[in-house]
Amino acid sequence: MCGIVGIVGDRPVADRLFDGLKRLEYRGYDSAGICTLDEGDFDRRRAEGKLNNLAAVLADKPLHGTTGIAHTRWATHGAPVVKNAHPHIVGPVAIIHNGIIENFKPLRAELEAEGRTFESDTDTEVVAHLVAREIEGGAEPRDAVAAVLSRLHGAFGMAFLFRDHPGLIIGARHGSPLTVGYGEGENYLGSDAIALAPLSQRIAYLDDGDWVVLTRDEIEIYDKDNQRVEREIVLSGASAASVEKGNYRHYMQKEIFEQPIVVAQTLQSYVRPYEGKVALPDSDLDLSSIRRVTIVACGTSFYAGMVAKYWIEQFARVPVDIDVASEFRYREPVLEKGGLALFISQSGETADTLAALRHAQEEGQIIAAVINVPTSTMAREADIVLPTHAGPEIGVASTKAFTCQLAVLAAFSANLARANGRMSEEEEADLVDRLQKVPEIMNEALDHDEDIAAMAHLVAPARDVLYLGRGPDYPLAMEGALKLKEISYIHAEGYAAGEMKHGPIALIDDAVPVIVLAPSGPLFEKTVSNMEEVRARGGKIIFVSDAEGLEKAGEGCLATIEMPKAHPLIQPIVYAIPVQLLAYHVAVAKGTDVDQPRNLAKSVTVE
Ligand code: AGP
Repeated sequence: MCGIVGIVGDRPVADRLFDGLKRLEYRGYDSAGICTLDEGDFDRRRAEGKLNNLAAVLADKPLHGTTGIAHTRWATHGAPVVKNAHPHIVGPVAIIHNGIIENFKPLRAELEAEGRTFESDTDTEVVAHLVAREIEGGAEPRDAVAAVLSRLHGAFGMAFLFRDHPGLIIGARHGSPLTVGYGEGENYLGSDAIALAPLSQRIAYLDDGDWVVLTRDEIEIYDKDNQRVEREIVLSGASAASVEKGNYRHYMQKEIFEQPIVVAQTLQSYVRPYEGKVALPDSDLDLSSIRRVTIVACGTSFYAGMVAKYWIEQFARVPVDIDVASEFRYREPVLEKGGLALFISQSGETADTLAALRHAQEEGQIIAAVINVPTSTMAREADIVLPTHAGPEIGVASTKAFTCQLAVLAAFSANLARANGRMSEEEEADLVDRLQKVPEIMNEALDHDEDIAAMAHLVAPARDVLYLGRGPDYPLAMEGALKLKEISYIHAEGYAAGEMKHGPIALIDDAVPVIVLAPSGPLFEKTVSNMEEVRARGGKIIFVSDAEGLEKAGEGCLATIEMPKAHPLIQPIVYAIPVQLLAYHVAVAKGTDVDQPRNLAKSVTVE
């Protein structure tokens, strides 16, 4: 899961390739590299770690040349060290690769048996050897690549540069996305439209199995049967402007504080305030015919889906199945033809979710997708897109995308409830009124930033943290734990409050902070009982509730956070804020890399 960019140009490419890598860093930041063709030979720079390491190497030894390829890596095969960084060079071929070559072991054995030696531990180098072998045997680059592609299993997007063919790049995709950009006297290749945005807005998305030959003047696309094909050229609309942090210390912090605005922006597409109605944008979907909803997603998007399961079942009385995408795809789920499958993804590129979407499509489901990146593969492949308008989310920890997903899912649940006669016109108008006030309530929640920052020292020294909640606060508890884990590296678990006594209670002592999410309401007393069970065992509680809840049960807690009271379809959007802020401030207190935590990538494009 890596980022790819290539330029066949008529002027120096190194700086522009580096800019493309900055835009692709969300796909991985373990190491990076660039290779250009200069005076008839390859010239390459690589560096371990973040892109600023590569920048330092380039500053020391600049790269020249008008054709080149560049790569930012998220390690799958081989540690994130320079020898495994791409591009890999074997004789007359240089390669960059995103994805996994699943049959690389037998291929490597075959090549080693011929006396070929390997410099890296990657699966990628095998492909470089195979293509080099063809070329050394007299094949032209395009024939060499076509011959090798037929031998590869797995998912990949790749690009090749050829030492003896200046002004030529060949790209190929199978599973992983690849996009070509059309220029004037130059052409481009990239993992996505965002990487190419400053270079070209005229782009074509390659289909699965396509490979492409780029020269300065022409782009020739071939399908999996090696037949020349045309792919539609579209205007990408991806923004060329880079996103700045402004006065914030981290992107994550900025994105947390943007939430009232982007949630309002998102809701504008789903609410008709003057009519007192919620509505889905541009959709012919007959909601009253939906008998079951299947929700599939990963990570934070999955937790948004879990909240939606509570909402859809409670308000619309439609049964919901929910799966993490990596399980759904391979467990042979039983899906009735014509059912609605709902996929949730910020990036629209997550490999597991995409594979699950395609599987559901093959099974005759209507595919709806809640997506933040409108140019993404999922947005292009879904039947119905329910967009979130969160804008680019740069921090690896998802924050504003999550609350925008919740806003869309709340509107979706209300639509379904109305279509099923489970929500009266008055209730709908009341909900619309309340949805209009969500940004205001979110601002109230954000006002607690300083109090929460002051609590960070209570959590930062912990080795383990538990989050507890009931109903929609249970997925929020899991989301809180995920946020804390990924950016502060503290082990955390989110539990259904009632489940704690079935095992996790054994963990409780005064070194394990327990964060309890419990708005006043029907489940409040039950959660408070579970909280008492923690307290009785010396557990230290951080209690998040509204004024009424704090009044009833706030005494004796290590700390309390007061949230405004809200409608059940709004409350999880509000409670997301304290869990995000707490994770953020704990990570800052621990001095971790908040925006690019270790081992992670923003978009996970391998299965
Ligand atoms: C959350 O903070 C994550 N970094 C991660 O769990 C993410 O939500 C997951 O990878 C799904 O991504 P998507 O929404 O782009 O599909």
